[in-house]
Amino acid sequence: MLNKTLPLVVMSALLLPAGASCNEEEIPANEVAATQQIVRMIEDSVRAEAKKGLARRDAHAKTHGCVQAQFRVLDNLPEKVRVGIFGEARSYPAWIRYSNGSGKVQDDSVGDARGMAIKLMGVERSDSSTQDFLMISHPTFFVRNATDYVEFQKAFSEDSPFKFFFPGFNPFNFRLHEFRIANAIRETKMSNPLYARYWSTTPYRFGNTEMKFSGQSCSTSSPFTETAAPNFLHENMQKHLAQSEACVDFLIQLRKLPTEMPIEDPTIEWSEKDAPFIHVARITIPVQTFNSPEQLAFCENLSFTPWHAIPEHRPLGGINRMRKTVYDTIARVRHEINGDKHLEPTGF
Ligand code: HEM
Repeated sequence: MLNKTLPLVVMSALLLPAGASCNEEEIPANEVAATQQIVRMIEDSVRAEAKKGLARRDAHAKTHGCVQAQFRVLDNLPEKVRVGIFGEARSYPAWIRYSNGSGKVQDDSVGDARGMAIKLMGVERSDSSTQDFLMISHPTFFVRNATDYVEFQKAFSEDSPFKFFFPGFNPFNFRLHEFRIANAIRETKMSNPLYARYWSTTPYRFGNTEMKFSGQSCSTSSPFTETAAPNFLHENMQKHLAQSEACVDFLIQLRKLPTEMPIEDPTIEWSEKDAPFIHVARITIPVQTFNSPEQLAFCENLSFTPWHAIPEHRPLGGINRMRKTVYDTIARVRHEINGDKHLEPTGF
């Protein structure tokens, strides 16, 4: 019984690096129950969809491309950012998966979040030997916490996500702030995933302090921006990487003002004016093709989660705590149904 009601709370405490405090995290009493409810709903939906064929990710189902990259931590970083992965100037081989946010594989002209998920390999102090950095194309997430996500998931599974933002007629219950974020996410225009900015939205530990992170293309524009075809994001990426490499700067933002920069609410942006992003690594995506059936299958089989992390970059806040159970379960279910084995990659 204890096992069923307390696992997340206990796990969070156990995952803390020795000597660190979890004072900045406030775990609501109903979070474990809400997480279990979400996992059940998402698992049911993945199993139902899988009857049509492949078991896909319940979110970020459509892949634009899964590419090989080098993640190089910069030389001569200021002392305050030489922490964890950024403690040593060295290179990591990485896989990067670009995706659409929806659980449906749909036309790229439909407004949606776009994802960039980075997996560093050969990371010695991570249990999985990998360090994942998951980002979307907007600085904030549109749900505050696990309890609200239950409401979102219910509305979503009834095919009326609108009900989450406007539940009933009482304006005091409207979620206008979240509605604005969801709209901004849908309205963000992108023609080439390699030329965009992405954000973690949720916070992470950075040694004894906290961070958010971001990926920003280092060149300003791509020559490939045609948006007529249904899979234009994939096509523009492919045309670009057939001819020239791409480059992304990896940035971190250290938390400065605890009240204005909450840990438990990813709908609140941490002001860039008060806490500017710092350039800590450069990602190079060399010229390549990434369309072979083997590579597509490999990519479908990969699992990214914020919890593939070294202790210095442990995920923080309610949405991230909930994501641990959700991502672990959904990845396991996908692999089971598809008859694949979950293996973390160790190279290209
Ligand atoms: C309420 C919270 C969330 C839930 C329930 C959720 C759920 C999921 C699920 C089920 C997957 C597929 C996992 C797999 O099968 O391997 C996924 C993937 C992903 N999520 Fe979330 N997510 C949440 C919040 C976020 C947030 C805040 C971000 C912001 C960065 C995010 C970014 C991503 C990305 C980029 C992927 C694709 C990873 C890949 O390429 O495989 N998610 N999410």
